[in-house]
Amino acid sequence: MNLRIAIAGKGGTGKSTFSALLCRSLLAKGIKPLLAVDADPNSCLPEKLGVEVEQTIGDLREELRQEPEKKPAGIPKGEWMEGMINRAITESTGMDMVVMGRQEGPDCYCFINNLLRQCLEQIGKQYKAVVIDNEAGLEHLSRRSNGSVEVLVVVAHPTITGARTAVRIMELVNSLHLDIGDCFLVLNESDTQLDADLAIEFARTGLDIIGSIPTDPLIRDFELKAQSLMTVPAGSKAAMAVDEILQKILERRNA
Ligand SMILES: Nc1ncnc2c1ncn2[C@@H]1O[C@H](COP(=O)(O)OP(=O)(O)OP(=O)(O)O)[C@@H](O)[C@H]1O
Ligand SMILES: [Mg+2]
Repeated sequence: MNLRIAIAGKGGTGKSTFSALLCRSLLAKGIKPLLAVDADPNSCLPEKLGVEVEQTIGDLREELRQEPEKKPAGIPKGEWMEGMINRAITESTGMDMVVMGRQEGPDCYCFINNLLRQCLEQIGKQYKAVVIDNEAGLEHLSRRSNGSVEVLVVVAHPTITGARTAVRIMELVNSLHLDIGDCFLVLNESDTQLDADLAIEFARTGLDIIGSIPTDPLIRDFELKAQSLMTVPAGSKAAMAVDEILQKILERRNA
């Protein structure tokens, strides 16, 4: 199995929290090795996963751009880059992590960016699962920076704005013909049944609501204490909800 799951959604909806809890659930299920990709330039996934990262892919890109002659002669560029990316991957138990870092630059970066993307896709194949935490907004979708993914999870708050943003995300996904297997919706900080009006708004996304994550004071506690979400107790309401969501994703993929 090589399961690439990308997470998208509006700012502050809980994308990184969900990504971190999803990594926790995947490992708890023994789905490893696992690669966590932080694709948000204002990276925060490493803290949520308790991993310290020294080099980002953005640093690497900048180095390559400024010193293209760094590559030793005789080694194909792609191969050399794969080696470099491997060094930018931080290893921890059962899970590796890579941080994309700074935004992609102007057009002159295009060649390097394409090569980087191809190398990352190649590296991702060594893992049982890849979880990609994206920045808020829709640019990463139009930049196609996630490459092909089996699952896209849109995280939204159970509000009218949440529903409308999810609709916009899906309009963009459909208009770009992105290479995505299944798209699901996850409602975060969702503590009651959706009322009829909200349910209608969310139905406009055309997405299945694969699960809801309740507000969990433990999550905020962990955040305040900068503690890794990998260590939230199995009884945490949010962690249990994400366990269930993962289970459903796996069932849908196998169906
Ligand atoms: N289910 C939950 N219960 C309690 N608090 C939560 C829950 N989900 C997220 N939070 C809190 O909400 C805040 C935003 O979450 P998070 O950083 O995961 O969102 P995000 O979508 O990644 O934000 P950004 O767009 O800035 O990257 C954090 O303080 C987080 O601890
Ligand atoms: Mg985030």
